[in-house]
Amino acid sequence: EKGGHDYFMLKEIEEQPEALANTLRGHFSDGVVLDEQRLSEQDLRDIGKVFVVACGTAYHAGLLAKYAIEHWCRIPVEVELASEFRYRDPVLGRDTLVVAISQSGETADTLEAVRHARTQHARVLAISNTNGSQIPRESDAVLYTHAGPEIGVAATKTFLAQIAANYLVGLALAQARGTKYAEELEREFEELAAMPEAVRSALSTVGKTRELAARFSESKAVLFLGRHVGYPVALEGALKLKELAYMHAEGFAAGELKHGPIALIEEGLPVVVNMPSNKGSSQLHAKLVSNIREIQARGAHTIVIAEEGDDAVRPFADELIEVPAVPTLLQPLVSAVPLQVLAAEVARNRGYDVDKPRNLAKSVTVE
Ligand code: F6R
Repeated sequence: EKGGHDYFMLKEIEEQPEALANTLRGHFSDGVVLDEQRLSEQDLRDIGKVFVVACGTAYHAGLLAKYAIEHWCRIPVEVELASEFRYRDPVLGRDTLVVAISQSGETADTLEAVRHARTQHARVLAISNTNGSQIPRESDAVLYTHAGPEIGVAATKTFLAQIAANYLVGLALAQARGTKYAEELEREFEELAAMPEAVRSALSTVGKTRELAARFSESKAVLFLGRHVGYPVALEGALKLKELAYMHAEGFAAGELKHGPIALIEEGLPVVVNMPSNKGSSQLHAKLVSNIREIQARGAHTIVIAEEGDDAVRPFADELIEVPAVPTLLQPLVSAVPLQVLAAEVARNRGYDVDKPRNLAKSVTVE
């Protein structure tokens, strides 16, 4: 049942191309199609502000929604931990869309954030992997990620599916608000639709990542760096390592290094760096290369995830993991793969139960 794997999580990592394809399938035909839609076109057109609320890995997917929705729709987006959201009296109204992301659809904090939003007359759109769960039931619109059941406690395929779902929501808003022409929407969707294949090819990094994991299993800590859409991926890489391998891990926006975290760098410390594309955002690329040089000079062991053909970073990578070149916003879908494998394999090498990490539950129904 684990498809020949030692644990479900690896099987679920390998199911990601399919999970993505299933999430995209049926959600686009002449525009984005939601699973449930109790909002009018006018309601969507009137949205002037978006909040994304979620916990844990879903929150990291939510952070990525901001890049896409602001870029495509020109609406300000705030992403907030569901457990913090309602305690600070956020400014909500009929022109506010709250996007609640929850794999289980039952997470107590996310559900309470939804309930709070509704008392303030905000519109609520749920992204969930579980049909008929509570959060979708209490929302005005629903987009289901059809990733299939996830047995491993750590979210993997549902993370990628959530990212794709966010992008669909971004396209739906762009469509309603008219910030993108039909042909542009179509083109963005085509790029998304090409991602299952790209993720399949990113899975060719599994073997190399397993070898790396075997070498770093006894490290005291691991740092993860990224910028732009690579930053939420760094946070997710660190969360996976904490929850599965019980290892100290932190994700940082690389530009923050100099403001404190660089003091953590010491001889032999593994630092995983998520490189942006060397093409479009080459300014960021150059900045990350200079970050890598700084930390390498201080003894860090750099594990670099970069797109294929990125020769500029090669000389500074102690270890290089190459993922397929894809459009910038979609890069997290391929760069998350080796980070998931790294965490799972470090955990396995340390003798832990990868599918059932200590102290954690798949669905967190208490606050
Ligand atoms: C981490 C993980 C958790 C969940 C979080 C939210 O691997 O799985 O951080 O992402 O508990 O759960 P859902 O998405 O069910 O609301």
